[in-house]
Amino acid sequence: MTMAPQQSKIDELIRRLDEAVMVADDAGRCRNVKKVLTDIVGSGGSFVPESFMRTATGHYARRLLHRDPAGRYTVLVMVWDRGQGTPLHDHAGTSFSALGGDPELDLVEFRQETVVHAGVGEAGALIPPFEYHILENAGDEPAVTIHVYGEEMKHCHVFEATEGSSYRRHYRELTYTE
Ligand SMILES: [Fe+2]
Repeated sequence: MTMAPQQSKIDELIRRLDEAVMVADDAGRCRNVKKVLTDIVGSGGSFVPESFMRTATGHYARRLLHRDPAGRYTVLVMVWDRGQGTPLHDHAGTSFSALGGDPELDLVEFRQETVVHAGVGEAGALIPPFEYHILENAGDEPAVTIHVYGEEMKHCHVFEATEGSSYRRHYRELTYTE
Protein backbone atom coordinates (compact mmCIF):
# COMPACT_ATOMS: atom_id res chain seq x y z
CA MET A 1 0.00 0.00 0.00
CA THR A 2 1.34 3.48 -0.79
CA MET A 3 1.02 6.28 1.70
CA ALA A 4 -0.45 9.67 0.85
CA PRO A 5 2.45 12.05 0.12
CA GLN A 6 1.09 14.39 2.81
CA GLN A 7 1.37 11.72 5.49
CA SER A 8 4.81 10.57 4.40
CA LYS A 9 6.05 14.17 4.69
CA ILE A 10 4.62 14.45 8.21
CA ASP A 11 6.26 11.11 9.08
CA GLU A 12 9.56 12.44 7.77
CA LEU A 13 9.14 15.63 9.81
CA ILE A 14 8.57 13.60 12.98
CA ARG A 15 11.42 11.17 12.31
CA ARG A 16 13.82 14.07 11.76
CA LEU A 17 12.57 15.99 14.82
CA ASP A 18 13.05 12.86 16.94
CA GLU A 19 16.72 12.97 15.89
CA ALA A 20 17.01 16.77 16.20
CA VAL A 21 15.96 16.89 19.85
CA MET A 22 18.51 14.28 20.97
CA VAL A 23 21.20 16.97 21.29
CA ALA A 24 21.70 17.97 24.92
CA ASP A 25 22.12 21.75 24.70
CA ASP A 26 19.29 24.22 23.97
CA ALA A 27 21.14 26.13 21.27
CA GLY A 28 22.09 22.96 19.40
CA ARG A 29 18.56 21.59 19.63
CA CYS A 30 17.12 24.86 18.32
CA ARG A 31 19.59 24.88 15.43
CA ASN A 32 18.67 21.31 14.53
CA VAL A 33 14.93 21.93 14.75
CA LYS A 34 15.20 25.06 12.57
CA LYS A 35 17.10 23.09 9.95
CA VAL A 36 14.46 20.34 9.92
CA LEU A 37 11.64 22.88 9.54
CA THR A 38 13.30 24.83 6.73
CA ASP A 39 14.24 21.59 4.93
CA ILE A 40 10.76 20.08 5.16
CA VAL A 41 8.86 23.28 4.32
CA GLY A 42 11.39 24.13 1.60
CA SER A 43 11.08 20.74 -0.06
CA GLY A 44 7.84 21.97 -1.62
CA GLY A 45 4.24 20.91 -1.60
CA SER A 46 1.65 21.42 1.08
CA PHE A 47 1.74 18.71 3.73
CA VAL A 48 -0.32 20.29 6.51
CA PRO A 49 -3.79 18.68 6.49
CA GLU A 50 -6.66 20.96 5.37
CA SER A 51 -8.36 20.68 8.76
CA PHE A 52 -5.33 22.37 10.32
CA MET A 53 -5.38 25.28 7.87
CA ARG A 54 -8.71 26.89 8.78
CA THR A 55 -8.69 30.35 10.28
CA ALA A 56 -10.63 31.02 13.48
CA THR A 57 -12.84 34.03 14.15
CA GLY A 58 -11.52 36.64 16.53
CA HIS A 59 -8.20 34.98 17.36
CA TYR A 60 -5.44 32.96 15.74
CA ALA A 61 -5.97 29.19 15.48
CA ARG A 62 -3.67 26.84 17.42
CA ARG A 63 -3.78 23.11 16.64
CA LEU A 64 -1.68 20.14 17.79
CA LEU A 65 -0.12 18.28 14.85
CA HIS A 66 2.08 15.91 16.87
CA ARG A 67 2.87 15.13 20.50
CA ASP A 68 6.11 13.19 20.96
CA PRO A 69 5.15 9.98 22.84
CA ALA A 70 8.28 10.46 24.99
CA GLY A 71 7.06 13.96 25.92
CA ARG A 72 10.14 15.75 24.59
CA TYR A 73 8.37 18.10 22.19
CA THR A 74 5.10 19.06 20.50
CA VAL A 75 4.46 20.34 16.97
CA LEU A 76 1.72 22.93 16.53
CA VAL A 77 0.19 24.51 13.46
CA MET A 78 -1.03 28.07 13.87
CA VAL A 79 -3.17 29.98 11.42
CA TRP A 80 -3.21 33.75 11.43
CA ASP A 81 -5.93 35.58 9.60
CA ARG A 82 -5.29 39.09 8.38
CA GLY A 83 -4.49 41.30 11.37
CA GLN A 84 -4.44 38.47 13.94
CA GLY A 85 -1.60 38.19 16.46
CA THR A 86 -0.70 37.43 20.05
CA PRO A 87 -0.43 39.81 22.98
CA LEU A 88 3.04 40.29 24.46
CA HIS A 89 3.72 36.97 26.20
CA ASP A 90 6.30 34.58 27.62
CA HIS A 91 6.60 30.82 27.41
CA ALA A 92 6.35 30.38 31.16
CA GLY A 93 10.03 29.52 31.29
CA THR A 94 11.74 32.35 33.17
CA SER A 95 11.07 34.60 36.14
CA PHE A 96 12.92 37.81 35.48
CA SER A 97 12.75 40.49 32.84
CA ALA A 98 15.83 42.08 31.36
CA LEU A 99 14.88 45.47 32.77
CA GLY A 100 14.49 44.51 36.41
CA GLY A 101 11.42 43.77 38.45
CA ASP A 102 10.08 40.33 39.16
CA PRO A 103 7.13 39.70 36.81
CA GLU A 104 5.59 37.46 39.43
CA LEU A 105 5.27 40.39 41.81
CA ASP A 106 5.74 43.73 40.13
CA LEU A 107 4.86 45.75 37.11
CA VAL A 108 7.59 45.25 34.56
CA GLU A 109 9.02 47.28 31.73
CA PHE A 110 10.28 46.00 28.42
CA ARG A 111 12.76 47.18 25.86
CA GLN A 112 12.22 46.08 22.27
CA GLU A 113 15.20 43.97 21.24
CA THR A 114 14.54 42.85 17.70
CA VAL A 115 11.85 42.83 15.03
CA VAL A 116 11.95 39.95 12.59
CA HIS A 117 9.90 39.93 9.40
CA ALA A 118 9.79 36.24 8.59
CA GLY A 119 9.22 35.22 4.98
CA VAL A 120 7.75 32.02 3.60
CA GLY A 121 9.88 29.02 4.56
CA GLU A 122 11.94 30.86 7.17
CA ALA A 123 12.45 29.64 10.74
CA GLY A 124 13.44 31.32 13.99
CA ALA A 125 14.11 30.23 17.56
CA LEU A 126 13.44 31.57 21.01
CA ILE A 127 15.60 30.77 24.04
CA PRO A 128 15.10 32.44 27.46
CA PRO A 129 15.85 35.00 28.87
CA PHE A 130 14.90 36.91 25.69
CA GLU A 131 11.63 35.09 25.47
CA TYR A 132 9.06 37.87 25.69
CA HIS A 133 7.50 38.36 22.30
CA ILE A 134 4.58 39.23 20.07
CA LEU A 135 3.71 37.31 16.92
CA GLU A 136 1.45 38.80 14.30
CA ASN A 137 0.50 38.40 10.69
CA ALA A 138 1.91 41.43 8.90
CA GLY A 139 0.60 40.36 5.50
CA ASP A 140 -2.71 40.80 3.67
CA GLU A 141 -3.43 37.08 3.42
CA PRO A 142 -3.91 34.40 6.09
CA ALA A 143 -0.58 32.88 7.17
CA VAL A 144 0.28 29.42 8.52
CA THR A 145 3.17 28.78 10.91
CA ILE A 146 4.61 25.59 12.42
CA HIS A 147 5.89 25.67 16.00
CA VAL A 148 8.02 23.13 17.85
CA TYR A 149 8.00 23.44 21.64
CA GLY A 150 10.08 21.63 24.22
CA GLU A 151 7.55 19.42 26.03
CA GLU A 152 3.98 20.79 25.81
CA MET A 153 3.13 24.38 26.62
CA LYS A 154 -0.19 24.45 28.48
CA HIS A 155 0.01 27.96 29.85
CA CYS A 156 1.94 31.17 29.47
CA HIS A 157 1.79 34.70 30.82
CA VAL A 158 0.49 37.61 28.83
CA PHE A 159 1.47 41.18 29.62
CA GLU A 160 -1.14 43.88 29.63
CA ALA A 161 -0.03 47.48 29.15
CA THR A 162 -0.87 49.73 32.08
CA GLU A 163 -0.55 53.48 32.49
CA GLY A 164 2.94 54.64 31.69
CA SER A 165 5.34 52.17 30.12
CA SER A 166 4.70 49.28 32.50
CA TYR A 167 3.01 45.95 31.96
CA ARG A 168 1.06 43.74 34.33
CA ARG A 169 1.41 39.97 34.06
CA HIS A 170 -1.59 37.62 33.76
CA TYR A 171 -1.68 33.83 33.78
CA ARG A 172 -3.20 32.39 30.61
CA GLU A 173 -4.20 28.80 29.98
CA LEU A 174 -3.50 27.68 26.41
CA THR A 175 -5.99 25.48 24.60
CA TYR A 176 -6.22 23.99 21.14
CA THR A 177 -8.63 25.30 18.51
CA GLU A 178 -11.23 22.86 17.12
FE1 LIG B 1 5.08 32.47 21.72
